[in-house]
Amino acid sequence: MKLVFATHNQNKFQEVKNLVPTSVELVSLRDIGCYNEIPETGKTLEENAQIKADFVTSTYGLPSFSDDTGLLVNALNGAPGVYSARYAGADKNANANMDKLLEELHAIGDRSARFETVIALNLNSGCHFFKGVVHGSITKEKKGKKGFGYDPIFQPKGYDKTFAELPMEQKNGISHRAKAMKQLVDFLATLTNS
Ligand code: IMP
Repeated sequence: MKLVFATHNQNKFQEVKNLVPTSVELVSLRDIGCYNEIPETGKTLEENAQIKADFVTSTYGLPSFSDDTGLLVNALNGAPGVYSARYAGADKNANANMDKLLEELHAIGDRSARFETVIALNLNSGCHFFKGVVHGSITKEKKGKKGFGYDPIFQPKGYDKTFAELPMEQKNGISHRAKAMKQLVDFLATLTNS
């Protein structure tokens, strides 16, 4: 089955491609010739994920899924949350986002945080949602060069390294997106087995 992962982020696409069973032909927006910047105007992760999946399904007539992720910091009442990508401005600069968050937290003791990913899947005229969460904390400085986004300042619970210091396979084993993807993959497997 051909399934579109509605993302322009090639890092994410590659991460997810490694998790999907071979029975699914996972294609990216680039693969279907979609170069639109799909606006994320929702107020929740669920709304944003659905907006992107709906755009692809209605424009290209293909089953599609999209994810939306937020970094929720407890001491900041869940900020930056749904606004994580544009936390420091419209240009979605990862370094600026991390600098802003480190600055906001510089005098705060509670650095606990979590990543949440919501996936919206459009398949057979229905929309299905899957959610993955990973708990951890925000470090005092950036560490590591791997990954993307907030990876250099997010340390998952039970580890002494940030996501950016862990090998991709290890991050994929525990990440918010991997957990949400596992639910998606399990769901797809039940369809192909029935
Ligand atoms: P999006 O929903 O994938 O666009 O992500 C929203 C924000 O969270 C962006 O700033 C991303 O860089 C960041 N983000 C998403 N997934 C991850 C991750 O696995 N690690 C670090 N940052 C992430």
